Amino acid sequence: MPAITLVGAQWGDEGKGKATDLVGGRVDYVVRYQGGNNAGHTVVIGDQKYALHLLPSGILSPDVVPVIANGVVIDPGVLFEELNGLNKRGVDTSRLLISANAHLIMPYHRALDKVSERFLGKGRIGTTGRGIGPTYADKISRAGVRVQDMFDTGILRKKLELALNDKNQVLTKVYNRRGLELEPILEEYLGYAELLRPFVADTSLVLNRALDEGKTVYLEGSQGTLLDIDHGTYPFVTSSSPTSGGACAGSGIGPTRITKVVGILKAYTTRVGSGPFPTELHDEWGEWLRTQGHEYGVTTGRNRRCGWFDAPIARYATRVNGITDFFLTKLDVLSGLERVPVCVGYDVDGTRHDEIPMTQTDFHHAVPVYEHFDGWDDDITGARSFEDLPKNAQAYVRALEELSGAPISAIGVGPGRDQTLELRSLV
Ligand code: GDP
Ligand code: IMO
Ligand code: MG
Repeated sequence: MPAITLVGAQWGDEGKGKATDLVGGRVDYVVRYQGGNNAGHTVVIGDQKYALHLLPSGILSPDVVPVIANGVVIDPGVLFEELNGLNKRGVDTSRLLISANAHLIMPYHRALDKVSERFLGKGRIGTTGRGIGPTYADKISRAGVRVQDMFDTGILRKKLELALNDKNQVLTKVYNRRGLELEPILEEYLGYAELLRPFVADTSLVLNRALDEGKTVYLEGSQGTLLDIDHGTYPFVTSSSPTSGGACAGSGIGPTRITKVVGILKAYTTRVGSGPFPTELHDEWGEWLRTQGHEYGVTTGRNRRCGWFDAPIARYATRVNGITDFFLTKLDVLSGLERVPVCVGYDVDGTRHDEIPMTQTDFHHAVPVYEHFDGWDDDITGARSFEDLPKNAQAYVRALEELSGAPISAIGVGPGRDQTLELRSLV
């Protein structure tokens, strides 16, 4: 039975948390397959607002089994803080499963993330400072520490010794910082081990068996297509694969089991951190979008950079993810505009490009070519069907659909669970 993947189609913060929550009552498993607590997923249920960083958004749905799969990097301190925060609010988190193969964010990863960004100065990536990049770097260079290592004190000590030999040289000699002591780290992580043990499972096996039994598995991406290590605006990306291909490697589910790929697409564009962003607005309209859309980071509180909808980016997301359905979020934010600009292509040093240019240099030079659509004044936050939308809003949605290359199956008209027009079932 079906595995469904949800991916951010832009630079993150498209509304993935809300989209996952929306289907929460109709799926059996919600799986995080990459990233870590760099994510910030907001879910609004009635008058309650939740900000999830490491936990799958499905944790808020009582019948869902939430899974942190092998592709995720886990900061155990953050994990327990988040779990405790939810428990205090009456959320049952006991169903959570965590892969024994997931890698751990260690104190030296956080230290290196922060200090390397500082040294990059103006060239910095603008990371969330959570240690994500250094943890994935260690994973790839086969020097990482995994969840299962915490259950073998000898192995954990050995791995820490090897890591600190290397990291302390870098921290002290390259960055002029203090080195880290082994014993306190060992003690801290052995403490987490006992707390983690009840949650740890062979999650790939669990998920494949669930699929065999006809259960529905929902793979919740973090970040977005343009932040993907391979397909994003490298080096201004995160260090994992949020795109749909990453969902298989990151969860241990084969690609033949995935029947649907839902792309989450904001009705305009935002980005946090550095890197190219052709439709970014540096004028009062950028501020207008930020204020109307409450575009402030859930994880770092930074102002999000804002700009108009970029159709080549949506088409690119369709292509690299194999998107079958789009969920267009935040349409309500655009109410009140006389004309709504949409980027339909780029001018790169005098040459017209309909798709994202092949090289990053060209992408840095891309100047948007806009088409303008008639706006609408009405407040649409109470709309519950496509027909409730003003004609111009309907035309805007249809135009984005045409430009993006996949059907828009759901439309968000507010942050609430019920503020969604589901034109076709997302599950
Ligand atoms: P994520 O990282 O993709 O889960 O997205 P974030 O939670 O970081 O940012 C999306 C923000 O938009 C959150 O504050 C959501 O509550 C909010 N949101 C989601 N969908 C809609 C929508 O359709 N309209 C409005 N106005 N807000 C929305
Ligand atoms: P969600 O899941 C938006 C950005 C950071 C930075 C770059 C690398 O909420 O959409 P990292 O700490 O990952 O090494 O930072 O990626 N970034 C995000 N931007 N939403 C996110 O997550 C992000 N996670 C990372 O701002 O530019
Ligand atoms: Mg977010």
